[in-house]
Amino acid sequence: MVLLLNREDVISVLDMTDCIDMLEKAFTEMANGTAVLPLRINIKPPGGISLYMPAYLQEMNALACKVVTVYKDNPKDHNMPTTIGKVLLQDSKTGEVICIMDGGYLTAVRTGAVSGLATKFLAREDEEQVVSIFGAGAQAKMQLWAMCEVRDVSRALVHDKFPEAAEKFAKEMSEKLDIPVEVCDDMGQLLNADLICTATSSPTPIFDGSKVKAGAHINGIGSHSPGARELDTQIIKRSLLIADSREACLNEAGDIMMPVEEGAITPDHIHADLGEIVVGSREARASPEQITLFKSNGLAIQDTATAKLVYDLAREEGIGKDVDI
Ligand SMILES: NC(=O)c1ccc[n+]([C@@H]2O[C@H](COP(=O)([O-])OP(=O)(O)OC[C@H]3O[C@@H](n4cnc5c(N)ncnc54)[C@H](O)[C@@H]3O)[C@@H](O)[C@H]2O)c1
Repeated sequence: MVLLLNREDVISVLDMTDCIDMLEKAFTEMANGTAVLPLRINIKPPGGISLYMPAYLQEMNALACKVVTVYKDNPKDHNMPTTIGKVLLQDSKTGEVICIMDGGYLTAVRTGAVSGLATKFLAREDEEQVVSIFGAGAQAKMQLWAMCEVRDVSRALVHDKFPEAAEKFAKEMSEKLDIPVEVCDDMGQLLNADLICTATSSPTPIFDGSKVKAGAHINGIGSHSPGARELDTQIIKRSLLIADSREACLNEAGDIMMPVEEGAITPDHIHADLGEIVVGSREARASPEQITLFKSNGLAIQDTATAKLVYDLAREEGIGKDVDI
């Protein structure tokens, strides 16, 4: 039997804190060499990009492949989300497919959760931190949720090139998280935050990195192709740079590849993979003034670990529909 889980099923069992904990285990496996993680395969049909992302986590007994598409004009042209995906989970002992689940919400939660994990290990631990969120789309919401799970967030600012998107975000997220969320177009205020998440669809830098306040922690999650960057060379140079995966950053992330091509940094400017920070084999933040920057491309281990979590919870709670195929 194959268990089918739709978006509502996934939403009903998947919690941000559980996902952050699960990803901590997945990144530990990556650092310890028990994760198998090929670089994702990309196909570019007109108007979008289709990504095939398999991974295996030995300690977790988790084997899965996600197919995810990013079509920037979907909201405008088809009233559909930019990012859509499905995950196919296998029994790692027999290879049999045991579950097919919607991957849209799962992707947003695991993308928030990896930023939560990076923030937990890299950001200062002061009370009453201010968060700036760039972009007000599906991913941005989960970024703010994750920040609130790992730090004492007193206030959030949101900026989007479409003010109505930012207004909607502020209303929805202030109610969900019970903190003040304000629309903000003042770059000075936005870059004076303690925690900054960039989650836009912009292919070009969205702020002047020389203006980011000392001691800030940044999660850069939006761009993940060689020709696109949300972050400028300045902020990459100024930061202690942590990658989800060095290999992915040097092959997929314009944010990192372009400063390397410009000769502004060398690949060894990437201080560590997140897994190395999690297991303590590389040092995290060195001082309260240091700027730390986590660059996320999105790894298949995140999807695989999260899909396993969702499947186990769904089976426990009797959620979903079994089909014989
Ligand atoms: N790192 C990862 O694991 C990961 C996972 C999923 C998606 N993504 C990427 O995250 C990005 C956002 O995805 P989404 O699903 O939230 O998309 P979305 O279209 O729902 O939201 C993107 C938002 O960014 C805004 N924006 C674009 N340019 C901007 C600018 N210069 N300044 C401020 N706002 C701007 C848009 O108006 C839009 O509201 C995409 O680029 C997607 O490819 C990354």
